[in-house]
Amino acid sequence: MYRLIRPLLFRLNAERAHTWSVRAARLLQHADGSVLNALYAYQDERLEQTIWGRTWPNPVGLAAGADKNGVALRYWHGIGFGHVEVGSVSAQPCSGNTRPRAFRLPDDEALINRMGLNNDGAEAVAERLKQYTDASGTPQGIVGVNLAKTHDPSIMGAAGRADFCTSFRQLAPHATYVALNVSCPNTESGKTFESPDALDALLDDIFEVRRELALDVPVLVKLSPLLTEHVVFDSALDTLIDIAQDHGVHGYIASNTTPDRHGLQTDRDRLEAIGRGGLSGPPLHARSTQLIRYLYHTTGGGVPIIGVGGVDSAETAFAKIQAGASLVQLYTALVYHGPALIKSIKQGLVRLLDTHGFDSIQDAVGTDPALKRFA
Ligand code: FNR
Repeated sequence: MYRLIRPLLFRLNAERAHTWSVRAARLLQHADGSVLNALYAYQDERLEQTIWGRTWPNPVGLAAGADKNGVALRYWHGIGFGHVEVGSVSAQPCSGNTRPRAFRLPDDEALINRMGLNNDGAEAVAERLKQYTDASGTPQGIVGVNLAKTHDPSIMGAAGRADFCTSFRQLAPHATYVALNVSCPNTESGKTFESPDALDALLDDIFEVRRELALDVPVLVKLSPLLTEHVVFDSALDTLIDIAQDHGVHGYIASNTTPDRHGLQTDRDRLEAIGRGGLSGPPLHARSTQLIRYLYHTTGGGVPIIGVGGVDSAETAFAKIQAGASLVQLYTALVYHGPALIKSIKQGLVRLLDTHGFDSIQDAVGTDPALKRFA
């Protein structure tokens, strides 16, 4: 069906098409659940895992950025995602950068965006997440919340950390996990929390609030991709991982989009006309997968990793799982292939488990022979 809708959506600019798609998702989530079920349901116990004390029905999740404000949670779970990551959400509402700020690269099945952290703000999103929890306060499906600093260059240093903590207080009680987006490439100041001192201070403050609120919510850090898939040693990254591990972070998300443009089919003039922004989709796959390997090796597989960047098939998802990811996410592939992709990835993963002789996803995590290169 998406094959029929896609040409119409692609006649709109990328952001408008997305806005309309999310509007449709918001409406469809109130329709009789059996329709979505009939179209998209697929469950196999080999895809299930227990992570951070919760059962994840399958490893395929919706990446941050697709439903920043958590308006269509029931729909995303209805079309088969095992988890949904809402956000990035910041303490204050934000309209983001000026438009146009999202672009399709059909020759690469990729996107470039410089949205600039547009979102409704922590208070409004917390209200929505509250509606999606059961009587005990547990989200009805698995919902992670991705937090970022309010996109305002005057909010820096301690004020930036306080901004993160405000969002954490409001949103963490309603989330299955919290991801700290320290790697957004689209802030005006170009500054992120991905430097040792900044990350150290941020994690100090976040873990302090977590203790104060007596929450056992897992805290994850979302990192930038490597600039090449050939990296086997990166001392700056080692420092960041050391800091995160010392604070006891519960996992990593690898990775965010990249400002780098190498290896694209899209012609140079078009890229120049688009300008700056984070690249996502297949061109990111190898670089984010190498980051997963790096993290898995460096942490000794001690904490779960969510792999994201160019997942568009069972094969690309499986590559990330073998590199060390327990879970995967996607966004760009949904734009190019539509919701039926999720079921086909899950079916394909079960086939790949069979082919490789694994009993479950958990058994396949970190089995990539390329991991030996780090040893
Ligand atoms: C994103 N992504 C993103 N990530 C994040 O942590 N916070 C955000 O607000 C956003 N916003 C956003 C908007 C748009 C339009 C895109 C395409 C992406 C990044 C996203 O979560 C993911 O890390 C990358 O897109 C790589 O995955 P895919 O798209 O290749 O599957």
